[in-house]
Amino acid sequence: MKAKKIVVLGGSGFVGRHIVHQLCAHGYEVKVLTRRREDAKHLTMLPNVLVEECDVFFESAFNRAIRGSDVVINLIGILHESGRNTFDRIHAELPRRVAQACRAQGVPRLLHMSALQAAPDAPSAYLRSKAAGEAALREVAQDGAKDALQVTMFRPSVIFGRGDSFFNLFAALARLMPVLMLAKPQARFQPVFVEDVAQAFVASLDRVETVGQAYPLCGPTVYTLRELVRYVIDTLGLKRSIIGLNDRLSYLQAWAMEWLPIKLMTRDNYYSMQVDSVCDCAFPPVFGIRPTPMEAVVPTYLAADTMRQTYMRFRSTAGR
Ligand SMILES: NC(=O)c1ccc[n+]([C@@H]2O[C@H](COP(=O)([O-])OP(=O)(O)OC[C@H]3O[C@@H](n4cnc5c(N)ncnc54)[C@H](OP(=O)(O)O)[C@@H]3O)[C@@H](O)[C@H]2O)c1
Repeated sequence: MKAKKIVVLGGSGFVGRHIVHQLCAHGYEVKVLTRRREDAKHLTMLPNVLVEECDVFFESAFNRAIRGSDVVINLIGILHESGRNTFDRIHAELPRRVAQACRAQGVPRLLHMSALQAAPDAPSAYLRSKAAGEAALREVAQDGAKDALQVTMFRPSVIFGRGDSFFNLFAALARLMPVLMLAKPQARFQPVFVEDVAQAFVASLDRVETVGQAYPLCGPTVYTLRELVRYVIDTLGLKRSIIGLNDRLSYLQAWAMEWLPIKLMTRDNYYSMQVDSVCDCAFPPVFGIRPTPMEAVVPTYLAADTMRQTYMRFRSTAGR
């Protein structure tokens, strides 16, 4: 069956927007559910995309929203807990509810976004909750075997691309501060391009062999955090020093940052970095993708921002 109607949860976010664009380009009919329509208004101009406000935790509204669709894609996730939006609620309880709703409404296919190194015994609550979400999906998908829900899960390392929070955050910090005090400088990452991730999601729709699989998604190269931050600084053409913090100071920095009004880092992020976010295998061959190196992409948006900001600085100096 060629899937036609796709409901995307978390489609307004960084990864979601790229996936929705690719789904559109492939001619799928896409419905994006969001808490605030305003946050997804950038998608309303796309052909075949409907943006609908829906509380995904409100069972009857959610059931109505996915009824008659062929696929649900769940990208909803958080990096920091706030109020009742805990990791368990968003990463474990919600995926279970989504899978149950798919079964109840006869939606045959579910694509789910997890995270690399998700494991029940992972050092951070974020990674443990992602693992609990995966376990819940496996359980609900198999329950009653015959009309089993066809689930594919994706487990990316850190994702880069225009609008990402990782490289843009370090770029913003590097612009502001002459010296960067870096927690966990030796933590290792294997950044993967958002368009490659989106392509894997879209390709899996047509490949039955992806059903029941969980795919680690990584880029071509492993870097330490220090190397990534140095790369950002160099790309921006700035002269900045990096001071790598030892483990104890990294923890203290994360703890102190929890008190800031804007969450840059938490102790749970620090715990996540105890395990290297790297793949032990190549990009899954089933997708036929050669992963894009970050050097081919990151300068196109970081350097572009620099030029725009320079222009804005000139304007403000000129009093305009
Ligand atoms: N970015 C990365 O480097 C990375 C790496 C590994 C895994 N992931 C996973 O990939 C997924 C997408 O990440 P992203 O970077 O695109 O995140 P993002 O930009 O923050 O987008 C997250 C989306 O989740 C939705 N959402 C958040 N809290 C919600 C809540 N309480 N109820 C309903 N919806 C909620 C938001 O939708 P509305 O505001 O429209 O409702 C938003 O569009 C997440 O599951 C994340 O854990 C990301």
